[in-house]
Amino acid sequence: MNFHVFTLFPAMFQGPLSESILKRAQEKGLLSVSLHDIRDYAEDKHHVVDDYAYGGGPGMVMKPEPVFKAVEVQLERIRERQKDPAGVPVILLSPRGRVLTQSVARELAGYPDIVLICGHYEGVDQRVIDYLATDEISIGDYVLTGGELAAMVVIDCVARLGRGVLGSEQSISQESHTDGLLQHPQYTRPPDFRGWTVPEVLLSGHHERIETWRREQALLETRRRRPDLLEGTE
Ligand code: ADE
Repeated sequence: MNFHVFTLFPAMFQGPLSESILKRAQEKGLLSVSLHDIRDYAEDKHHVVDDYAYGGGPGMVMKPEPVFKAVEVQLERIRERQKDPAGVPVILLSPRGRVLTQSVARELAGYPDIVLICGHYEGVDQRVIDYLATDEISIGDYVLTGGELAAMVVIDCVARLGRGVLGSEQSISQESHTDGLLQHPQYTRPPDFRGWTVPEVLLSGHHERIETWRREQALLETRRRRPDLLEGTE
């Protein structure tokens, strides 16, 4: 899985990409993240990437030229390599986008190459949205300082669905949101911690009873914490 990230702040990505599962996935050749500094594609002497909004108003707007140029150069390279270049999603991270869910993550995990554009300032010129991006994604109904953290969230939750990225494929099939429910409670040793004991059924070794208990707990937890996930299913 190859992510191509377009940003004004490539250094922001260093931490999350150089630790833990994402680091290992890159070392194993299962994941690549190429970072492109949009400022490098600004053609004027001062590498200006933003400008005032037509019609007035506070804040600056990201100019279209450097974004188009940066992304088009990279799309051309992907096209030379890929048989199905039409299928490269070009995603603008923006609070106006469709909200990221596990099912959106699964959809994206089907693409070998994904382009992520990180918006900044008060927004991005509308022509980037109309004529370059194929999709807009928000990671939730709140406003971040820019699209970088959102892009990292997308990379993290999509990359971990890639084959071989997690040690055990089973952990994906059992986790929260995979079957529309939150995950059941989990316990490990010791069986008694400060008098708080592990439910008896989990110590029984009886697989069927354990499965039934887990399913019941997943339903109870979902009904209590996130009844919206059950709407239309009960
Ligand atoms: N940029 C600013 N806020 C955002 C959000 N909630 N999701 C994605 N990109 C953003």
